[in-house]
Amino acid sequence: MRPYCDGQMRHAGPVGSSVSGVDDSMLDRTARFRSLMARCATGVVVVTTVVDGFDHAMTANSFTSVSLDPEMVLFCVQKDSRFHEAISVAPRWTVNLLAADQADAARWFAERGRPLERQMQVVEHTRDEDGIPALDGSLGYLSCTTEAIYPGGDHSIVVGRVDRIVQGDHAAEALVFFERRLTGL
Ligand SMILES: Cc1cc2nc3c(=O)[nH]c(=O)nc-3n(C[C@H](O)[C@H](O)[C@H](O)COP(=O)(O)O)c2cc1C
Repeated sequence: MRPYCDGQMRHAGPVGSSVSGVDDSMLDRTARFRSLMARCATGVVVVTTVVDGFDHAMTANSFTSVSLDPEMVLFCVQKDSRFHEAISVAPRWTVNLLAADQADAARWFAERGRPLERQMQVVEHTRDEDGIPALDGSLGYLSCTTEAIYPGGDHSIVVGRVDRIVQGDHAAEALVFFERRLTGL
């Protein structure tokens, strides 16, 4: 169950029904969890990588820094996403910190079923030293190497070591996710 997303419950029947071992109190608890987590304002990133010549990208708000020495960061990725398959085998990836005017890019890279082979064509980007796409106009990006992938329920927790730090426009404001809305800070 994703605490982000579109706010729609994904249980199989109307509230009040019992769905294979999931009772009403659990549904209510899930709704309350999602509702409260939606009030935890976060920044928004797009994680990018390349596998077998194909670009992969995913919007994420589970990104945070982990360690200063060495510099490490993490994000969580849903196990049933295509990006999970990609990040499980890609040793290197880039985290793009989105600016306030990049809400369209955040929506695009969160859209299920978008064509993999053309997904980067709709956003301006350049390639970092590893050939991984970095979004133009972001607050900046980090190029990372996977350090570990830990289980995290229906997600995996991907921890990366920071190889390169590229600053973007210092004057740009951040894109923020709050109450399931993408908004400027
Ligand atoms: C603002 C926002 C934040 C998101 N954060 C995450 C996240 O941290 N982890 C995750 O797995 N999915 C997150 N998603 C959902 C993914 O972006 C989306 O499911 C994924 O791109 C689906 O595409 P794929 O199956 O092709 O990988 C987020 C979506 C939005 C709109």
